[in-house]
Amino acid sequence: MSDPLRPRASLRTAVVWEVLREALERRVKAVGREALDVLDTGGGTGKFAVPLARLGHRVTVVDPSPNALFALERRAAEAGVVDRVHAVQGDTAGLFDVVERAEYDIVLYHGVLEYVDDPAESLRNATAALRPSGELSLLAAGLGGAVLARALAGHFSEAHQALTGPDGRWGEGDPVPRRFTADQLSELVRASGLTVGSVHGVRIFSDLVPGVLVDTEPGASEALLRLEAAAAQSPAFHAVATQLHVLAQRGAD
Ligand SMILES: C[S@@+](CC[C@H](N)C(=O)[O-])C[C@H]1O[C@@H](n2cnc3c(N)ncnc32)[C@H](O)[C@@H]1O
Repeated sequence: MSDPLRPRASLRTAVVWEVLREALERRVKAVGREALDVLDTGGGTGKFAVPLARLGHRVTVVDPSPNALFALERRAAEAGVVDRVHAVQGDTAGLFDVVERAEYDIVLYHGVLEYVDDPAESLRNATAALRPSGELSLLAAGLGGAVLARALAGHFSEAHQALTGPDGRWGEGDPVPRRFTADQLSELVRASGLTVGSVHGVRIFSDLVPGVLVDTEPGASEALLRLEAAAAQSPAFHAVATQLHVLAQRGAD
């Protein structure tokens, strides 16, 4: 059977899965239970939730989109894990209208901070869903990666706009409302009461190299995966990553 933690050992998510795998192992040891309670805020169609359920964890997905939740339920059914995936319609602003406080060992907050009205409040809510010593996995769009990508595509004014504008957007057509630097994310996480454990750059090279180079050269995909993993921890590369991942822990209380 393929490793459910690396469903498609894809270049785009491999670094996040690696960090998450270590966090899950740590939590399982700490709490003395094989099945963790995981909350996936803005979990969408279950890209992370369903593989986590396949590992035996109980995953609650809160998302405002009925379409996403429908797709999640279908994906969970196909994977045979409906009993371990709980889909709830809601958003991070009203999180405790739909889930309990301090009930989760791990909270995922992936690709959501860019879209919420109030990132600080939203993150405080995600944090308050954690049990003492629980861990938050935060993934958000990186500012530098967008600047670099626009510049390399020859869109220099858009790159300049993203670099100097207040939200890291490159223009009206930018589908992402907000981007962050590693320092901004770490500061938001600390302000929500958590201790930052690690910061990783995600998709440092993989969005920039032409797909044909990766698909046709024998061994190129594996070599790129190794390169991504090696660069992910280096602050120099955080500055140019498409996404940034922060793992942070709640105090023991
Ligand atoms: C880019 S997708 C990320 C989905 C998933 N977390 C992943 O990593 O594949 C953003 C998700 O955030 C959800 N979302 C948007 N605003 C939200 C909010 N205020 N609270 C919770 N989820 C929200 C969207 O419905 C969507 O499913």
